[in-house]
Amino acid sequence: MSQTRVLTGITTTGTPHLGNYVGAIKPAIEASQDPSVQSFYFLADFHALIKCQDPKRVQQSRLEIAATWLALGLDTDNAIFYRQSDIPEIPELTWLLSCVCAKGLMNRAHAYKAAVAENEEAGNQDPDKGITMGLFGYPVLMAADILMFNAHKVPVGRDQIQHIEMARDIAGRFNHLYKGEYFTLPTAVVDEKSQVLGGLDGRKMSKSYNNTIPLFVGEKKLQKLVRKIKTNSLEPGEPKDPDSCTLFQIYAAFASDEETAAMRRQYAEGIGWGDAKNQVFEYLNAHLEAPRERYNALMEDPGHIEAVLQRGAERAREETAVTMDTLRATVGLGRFS
Ligand code: TRP
Repeated sequence: MSQTRVLTGITTTGTPHLGNYVGAIKPAIEASQDPSVQSFYFLADFHALIKCQDPKRVQQSRLEIAATWLALGLDTDNAIFYRQSDIPEIPELTWLLSCVCAKGLMNRAHAYKAAVAENEEAGNQDPDKGITMGLFGYPVLMAADILMFNAHKVPVGRDQIQHIEMARDIAGRFNHLYKGEYFTLPTAVVDEKSQVLGGLDGRKMSKSYNNTIPLFVGEKKLQKLVRKIKTNSLEPGEPKDPDSCTLFQIYAAFASDEETAAMRRQYAEGIGWGDAKNQVFEYLNAHLEAPRERYNALMEDPGHIEAVLQRGAERAREETAVTMDTLRATVGLGRFS
């Protein structure tokens, strides 16, 4: 019964794109099928409020991300799939952790430091200009997400490793102060194999670069976007280098080894860009068609998504309610009788 606990959160501020799928969603869904693992996946919608104060966008993104994971086959009987904001124990734990977390530790957080550096570069008098307590305390909320469930492993992108280290730090401090093994120390898992996909302009596919291909755009739009992927000016007949080519990389992220090898040969034989783009579009479209249909059906039925998430929250709270009772008593906020 000692399953490894794997937990990760998805900040709900954008529309899922091919890069998210290849880098995070696909490996997570696969991992959730491993019976030796108990996985926890959640919509980090409290975190979304730090970056985005547009309620419509936050609400839409939560729905889209939930629909995406379900459409791609997340097994919600296995994985516990929930919204962070449905678990009141998370903000409660955030407070307990804030009270043991050194402010100096937060001063060293990359995201905060970057915001300060920007202010300094811009010559602002106040280095904290425009920086909210949400941004400053972001790592504590994230620590609460992780420690609440005693997660062992936390799959994240490189930019998040520091936050996991901070969660360990905070957990250690709490355990030490209150003299007990209240929290498991989590480990960041950065999948070296998991790919960082290039976007339309060849830079990393990211919503901040505005160069993404959304996973479930309609067929026509998908074709248009694939045609927009930047290629070089080599003519048909001239051999092309697949390894420096975003178009090839996107294809390879979806195709089998044999299919990828075949495309590699076509590059060597000088396939024209128009032809290559058509093939990549056809391939992606064929593979995304079925989940796209499921996605569209789910988006039409938010009540179903709501029910799935409510059930996830119930399962999560079976645990968080008990844990929080213990923690309250631990810090001196227990019941009188
Ligand atoms: N901060 C993470 C990101 O932006 C999302 C996140 C929130 C998370 N809470 C988490 C990831 C807990 C792992 C564990 O990617």
